[in-house]
Amino acid sequence: MATTLLTILLIACGHVICEISEEPCENFKVSFHHSYVQGDAAVLSCTMLNFLLEHVGNDTYNITWYKNETGKELFGDGDTIRAIDELLWFLPISLADTGHYVCVLRTSTLCFKQAVSLEITTKEDSCIHTPTYLQMLPASSNDNVVCPDVNIFMGKSDSHEFLWYKDCEPIENGNRYRYANNMLIIRTVEPEDEGNYTCVVTFSLNRTQYEASRTIHIDVKEVISYVPPAVINPINNSIEAWPGSPFNIVCKVFTGFSGENDLTDVWWDVNDTRIQNSSRITVGKQKEILTQTGQEVDVQLIFTELKEDDFGSNFSCFAVNGRGSAFAYFLLKPAGPSFLVYVGLTFAILVLLTITSLAIFKIFKIDIVLWYRKSSHHLKKNQVSDGKVYDAYIIYPKNHQSSSSKDPAIFALQILPEVLEKKCGYKLFILGRDELPGEAMADIVNENVQNSRRLIIVYTSTTFGLEDSDIQLERQAGLHDAFIDNQIKIILIELEKVKDYSDFPESIRYLKNKQGAIRWKGDFTEKTLSPSSRFWKHVRYHMPLNAPSLS
Ligand SMILES: *[C@@H]1O[C@H](CO)[C@@H](O)[C@H](O)[C@H]1NC(C)=O
Ligand SMILES: *[C@@H]1O[C@H](CO)[C@@H](O)[C@H](O)[C@H]1NC(C)=O
Ligand SMILES: *[C@@H]1O[C@H](CO)[C@@H](O)[C@H](O)[C@H]1NC(C)=O
Ligand SMILES: *[C@@H]1O[C@H](CO)[C@@H](O)[C@H](O)[C@H]1NC(C)=O
Ligand SMILES: *[C@@H]1O[C@H](CO)[C@@H](O)[C@H](O)[C@H]1NC(C)=O
Ligand SMILES: *[C@@H]1O[C@H](CO)[C@@H](O)[C@H](O)[C@H]1NC(C)=O
Ligand SMILES: *[C@@H]1O[C@H](CO)[C@@H](O)[C@H](O)[C@H]1NC(C)=O
Ligand SMILES: *[C@@H]1O[C@H](CO)[C@@H](O)[C@H](O)[C@H]1NC(C)=O
Ligand SMILES: *[C@@H]1O[C@H](CO)[C@@H](O)[C@H](O)[C@H]1NC(C)=O
Repeated sequence: MATTLLTILLIACGHVICEISEEPCENFKVSFHHSYVQGDAAVLSCTMLNFLLEHVGNDTYNITWYKNETGKELFGDGDTIRAIDELLWFLPISLADTGHYVCVLRTSTLCFKQAVSLEITTKEDSCIHTPTYLQMLPASSNDNVVCPDVNIFMGKSDSHEFLWYKDCEPIENGNRYRYANNMLIIRTVEPEDEGNYTCVVTFSLNRTQYEASRTIHIDVKEVISYVPPAVINPINNSIEAWPGSPFNIVCKVFTGFSGENDLTDVWWDVNDTRIQNSSRITVGKQKEILTQTGQEVDVQLIFTELKEDDFGSNFSCFAVNGRGSAFAYFLLKPAGPSFLVYVGLTFAILVLLTITSLAIFKIFKIDIVLWYRKSSHHLKKNQVSDGKVYDAYIIYPKNHQSSSSKDPAIFALQILPEVLEKKCGYKLFILGRDELPGEAMADIVNENVQNSRRLIIVYTSTTFGLEDSDIQLERQAGLHDAFIDNQIKIILIELEKVKDYSDFPESIRYLKNKQGAIRWKGDFTEKTLSPSSRFWKHVRYHMPLNAPSLS
């Protein structure tokens, strides 16, 4: 009786799942959910196989399938459902097939099982619009939509063919969309490409045609800029820094990304070796900053102290992400006065030199001119004569009272000839000394002023107050030439300090203001009669240069 019961049970076990059997079987529970469309071909796979084979090793195994809801084992010779090795085929699938299918894997010693949940959706018209897959495409890129979960059909079938639909409209295989095996390639994805895409694969299996379809919802993600990274800083330049000082620079990389996860790697190299943290150098943490135009990645490089070595080194910042790579470098150069400072200094020195030379020339003008005349004297020797007889015509008041050296008559008749004639070799015309007797005064004056190269007017503060006719005549003749013809130069010599020029004639005042007067301070000493004294140098400076100079 017991034997009979056991036999019945065993027989039952052959076709019914042995839930009641004692066989210990590790249960992986429901691991997958699938949703297929009624009327399509479908296939379930015992996915734990690949994972378990590693553990099972070379041991022989066999796989059985059963439907949990009915408990019936499924075999390879089924009408529409066939269990062939690790695959369970539905050729085609029908609404009644909804349920849980359990795959059991046995070796000589082990047993595992795993259930796959299968859901069947109805097909409305010929258009399938319930998307069961989701794919995101970034805008502006060339991308493709993959018909998912069809590799088994492609691998096991004799032939296969794909057709694509977007929101139930067939997609033409052409310019913008191109069919490529199980993919649909979209050129330059646009927001309008969003929608429900259906791929239908037709394949033949053992000379029978089957069909399977998948519907994918495509989301187009607006990526503001889909650009390769760009290093904003450093900028391939040299940076001035003081050796021994701290230094800090940030590598700034624009990635333009505006999504959630952007994997941009940014790092610093020195001489093509990645910089590691040390006691002297710190590489900061990568920081992502969102700006108006897109993401920016910053990595700092901090030196506590710059060393000699750093100044020959090439520091570069690298950035790499899925869209490309970029780098830029900087070099350090020791700080010092800049070129501009040098230019400024040079300019300042030139200006200073010019000012000093001008000042020196102004102070020593007379000496320089006299020295020049003397040193170039031999050149002047052969100078063409200007037809004049005298170097200077002397005008002085003749009726002065005093008899000191301040007496214009003494000065004109004694001191001037003593120095200018005897010592310097000039030829003077002095009224009261050089005129021929009997000549008319006006003729003498006119003729001799015309024959002179300079007109020297000697006066004191009272000279023009008590003017006599001689000096007036002489002065007028000379000044007339000087002013009107501009032929003769006038030298004013003051014999004393003049406080008030109001008595002076307009012409003298004008000359005094324009060119100044030379003031005589001395008397008859050896020193004051030396041509190299300040006074005589000044007079000689104003005298013509064709006189042979003696000192
Ligand atoms: C499986 O068999 C191969 C030879 O057929 C052997 O080299 C290998 O060691 C075996 N592996 C295990 C896990 O027994
Ligand atoms: C299989 O069926 C049994 C009994 O009908 C039930 O207890 C179990 O939860 C089911 N397993 C799955 C994975 O549906
Ligand atoms: C499955 O494997 C077990 C043990 O390896 C074996 O006893 C049984 O006959 C096999 N069944 C089939 C259907 O191959
Ligand atoms: C795609 O399918 C979903 C779910 O059926 C639906 O809500 C949506 O409107 C469909 N999209 C388009 C563009 O037809
Ligand atoms: C196709 O035919 C071969 C040979 O008859 C058979 O082994 C295989 O299981 C069949 N495939 C399907 C899916 O029925
Ligand atoms: C720096 O130089 C590299 C290579 O020479 C170049 O690719 C990069 O565009 C340059 N970067 C800048 C900011 O000039
Ligand atoms: C270097 O050190 C700083 C802080 O000490 C740390 O934030 C950073 O991640 C380190 N960088 C590297 C490349 O180890
Ligand atoms: C990098 O190379 C330069 C020139 O070859 C050298 O002067 C400098 O010391 C190097 N720097 C480092 C850190 O190796
Ligand atoms: C610095 O290094 C980069 C590459 O590491 C190189 O392209 C660049 O020319 C170097 N710059 C100088 C000035 O040597």
